Amino acid sequence: MPGGMTYDDAYAAWQRDPQAWWASLADGITWENRWDKVFDPSQGPYGSWFTGGSLNTCYNCIDRHVAAGRGGQPALIWDSAMTGRIENFSYAEMQTRTAKFAGALAQLGVDRGDRVVIYLPMVPEAAVAMLACARLGAIHSVVFGGFAAAELASRIADAKPKVIVSASCGLEPGRVIQYKPLLDAAIGLSSHKPDACLILQREQSPCALTPGRDHDLREAEAAGKPMDCVTVAATDPLYILYTSGTTGRPKGVVRDNGGHAVALWNSMQMIYGADAGDVYWAASDVGWVVGHSYIVYAPLLRGCTTIIYEGKPVGTPDAGAFWRVIAQHGVKVLFTAPTAMRAIKQQDPEGKLLGAYDLSKFEALFLAGERCDPPTAIWAADLLQRPVVDHWWQTETGWAITSGFRQFGLFPFNPGAGGRPCPGYELHAVDDEGRALDRTESGNLCVRLPLPPGCAPTLWQNDDGYRSAYLADFPGWYRTGDAGVIDAGGDVSVMGRTDDIINVAGHRLSTGAMEEVLASHVDVAECAVVGAKDELKGQTPIGLVVLKAGVNRPEREICAELVSLVRERIGPVASFRDARVVPRLPKTRSGKILRGSIRRIADGESVPVPATIEDPAALDEVGRALAR
Ligand code: COA
Ligand code: AMP
Repeated sequence: MPGGMTYDDAYAAWQRDPQAWWASLADGITWENRWDKVFDPSQGPYGSWFTGGSLNTCYNCIDRHVAAGRGGQPALIWDSAMTGRIENFSYAEMQTRTAKFAGALAQLGVDRGDRVVIYLPMVPEAAVAMLACARLGAIHSVVFGGFAAAELASRIADAKPKVIVSASCGLEPGRVIQYKPLLDAAIGLSSHKPDACLILQREQSPCALTPGRDHDLREAEAAGKPMDCVTVAATDPLYILYTSGTTGRPKGVVRDNGGHAVALWNSMQMIYGADAGDVYWAASDVGWVVGHSYIVYAPLLRGCTTIIYEGKPVGTPDAGAFWRVIAQHGVKVLFTAPTAMRAIKQQDPEGKLLGAYDLSKFEALFLAGERCDPPTAIWAADLLQRPVVDHWWQTETGWAITSGFRQFGLFPFNPGAGGRPCPGYELHAVDDEGRALDRTESGNLCVRLPLPPGCAPTLWQNDDGYRSAYLADFPGWYRTGDAGVIDAGGDVSVMGRTDDIINVAGHRLSTGAMEEVLASHVDVAECAVVGAKDELKGQTPIGLVVLKAGVNRPEREICAELVSLVRERIGPVASFRDARVVPRLPKTRSGKILRGSIRRIADGESVPVPATIEDPAALDEVGRALAR
């Protein structure tokens, strides 16, 4: 990309010739064979990028930096606030580890195209395992540690892994999470069984291995025969990442190799202003898309040093933890969720703890994962005296749809807005009939097809599911599922989802999935779950249930069971702590539950009585139940 470009120049250059734009950026990647077509509209639900090209993503993340003489540079820093340990891994060490780990997987029969489920806490082995899969051309599917056994089971059943990589335990403040019982339960529940499991024994709580199935991860890696990078097609899947859809069944978002490498490599400089040798930190979890893209792949593709942080923004040990990590490792750019900033702000509103640290290398804070409320963005900008950039994206896109761009000079600070469309995305608000609206009119945020490289080409073995979830409502567009508005200057504000997905502490969850769990309780006739505003987590779920006729057990007892049931089936990450009994749910005359009205009541808003409501008294009953 030519230097000295403005955002408008860059966006116009992409619009003039999208294929030439992406082809020139693809030179940042080392290809085994260059592509036949930059974009082939005939492959997949909306087309595919770099068809005919071949490469290896692990080679691009690790080996080529070693080959370029930078093997001694730190590739990955593991900073565990939970254990007090810090470990550094150079690019050369990562090459040895991923090659041997790939050997261990190959020894267990993993080959190109096979799936490997990774269920690990924030340890370096998570990145090593992901990269080892990429090295072999195997497809990883990482599952977030805060999910319960049933969620892990549904992912195992869908991905059908040959091997599962896991650990004896994870560490949360004040408690050790035993992973092994969760893993065993999930394998028991799943219709598909893996051939083998590799288990990382952590000293905080080692576990017994299941004979004939489990292997000690460290021993297997040490014995692994180093494997070279396997050449794969640009369009081959690199990974599957399951994310919440509108039902209980998670969607297997697929990422390809070629488009992903190009888009992520480019984003590091264009968006974040980070290049080889810089220390870049995404304080997220490898189980989320932010972790995939910006803890593992993008920083390593660019030759940066990345950080795996096992800890929280507060309580490990205090609200200065992020400033400590930035100072200690010389972090240039931090990417985290607004919730983390709200948590720090709550505990250290004046930012007194910041004073103890040298943040001279720190240049910018990027936020995503949920809407950032303006007071939090302003607080962070005032405290840090650095640009605070809100940018909007989703698991499906894999990188930002809208952002500020450090390469082009940032836009004026506009708290509450998420920047402007990245070159690659033609974004519009469209009405319910699929007509593009004028600027300043709110509507369904949609991207004109095709999506740029890096975005999900499909769902795992489910092209039709992809079409119906994202393409069918508005032909010619990708429906993001978010509502928002583009202002007169081009800044995009994302207001919230148009479906039943909620963001709790930056974690994407489905209220539909929670309703399925509540509805399975023997005493529940019907239910509704909505996301209500929460000072810290942005949103938290609240469940309203109608009990079956004749149930006369104490309501408090039933509600406690419902809370436990969601924790047991979905996991602690759902943060489902509030269920209330109502005599009936407010519905339209055609029987549709008025979830929007319930949510507004929960948020303390005054709610006009909808013209379509069957019985207005039901709204008052909800109000009374929520006021209890
Ligand atoms: N493994 C097991 N359990 C986990 C987990 C994991 N990887 N991650 C979270 N949990 C558990 C927590 O321990 C908590 O359990 P509890 O109900 O027993 O207290 C529950 O899931 C809810 O977690 P969370 O919503 O994260 O709340 P918290 O109180 O533990 O922490 C914050 C609050 C603000 C510190 C935390 O949400 C945070 O760091 N947020 C940053 C946002 C973020 O990283 N988002 C990722 C997307 S970018
Ligand atoms: P996930 O797939 O977990 O990344 O969640 C994606 C969803 O999070 C989006 O569809 C939005 O609803 C929300 N989201 C992510 N980033 C932002 C942002 N910067 N502003 C507003 N909402 C956001």
